[in-house]
Amino acid sequence: MSSTYVITGGSRGIGLEFARQLSARGDTVIATARDPDRAADLSRAAARVVPLDVTDPASIELLPSYLDGVSIDVLINNAGVSSEQKTISQCGAAELQRVFMVNSTAPVLVARALLDRLRAGRRRQIVNITSQLGSITNNTGGSSYPYRASKAALNMLTRSMANELANEGFVCVAVHPGWVRTDMGGPSAPLAPSKAVAAMLRLFDRLDAGQNGHFLNFDGASIPW
Ligand SMILES: NC(=O)c1ccc[n+]([C@@H]2O[C@H](COP(=O)([O-])OP(=O)(O)OC[C@H]3O[C@@H](n4cnc5c(N)ncnc54)[C@H](OP(=O)(O)O)[C@@H]3O)[C@@H](O)[C@H]2O)c1
Repeated sequence: MSSTYVITGGSRGIGLEFARQLSARGDTVIATARDPDRAADLSRAAARVVPLDVTDPASIELLPSYLDGVSIDVLINNAGVSSEQKTISQCGAAELQRVFMVNSTAPVLVARALLDRLRAGRRRQIVNITSQLGSITNNTGGSSYPYRASKAALNMLTRSMANELANEGFVCVAVHPGWVRTDMGGPSAPLAPSKAVAAMLRLFDRLDAGQNGHFLNFDGASIPW
């Protein structure tokens, strides 16, 4: 049976590949882009492209008004940014706030705005695309302060959502997509977007209540917090 997915950050990279693979297999894709007029590839793949800059809470609140009462099965909070600030001496308040807004705050606001639409769906899945760089246990190298911290915060927010919504049958997970050849991952990344996304879709298709609140690699392996 096909499902309806909402994907943030669908204009390029992993988000665009999610839209392509899901629509190719017959699922319905509603994707967001900051500038839908410049997202021609996404428009070909998605049933609907909704304008959304996730740094704008007012426009996040407007999201349901674009959905015409459609029920959502899976929300993929994918939009994300990296940061050039790698050391403590470079690390500034404005950059920390910018990266936290996109990577940590926005996924919660998007989930909150779409919660009733997700309750109306069959699968009740919220997937937050995180990074293994958000693992505190695995952080032996330091650096990338805003990015690492924003993804660690997203992991904690995912766990809280998972706990709060478990009794309604939600499954909320934080998923690391692998090191993927996108604008963010760069040309040296070992994984093609097609491979990473195909693996993640296999994972999402078999997510169950036992994985609610978990921090997972794209292949389904657990990542230490
Ligand atoms: N690639 C990797 O190796 C890797 C590894 C670990 C985790 N991740 C995570 O995977 C996710 C996707 O990454 P990617 O590699 O596909 O990155 P990407 O190629 O840089 O694409 C990022 C996407 O996020 C959107 N975005 C950025 N800021 C936004 C904002 N303020 N409002 C709305 N959309 C915004 C971008 O839209 P515009 O086109 O408008 O800028 C774009 O669609 C991110 O959460 C990232 O942290 C990636």
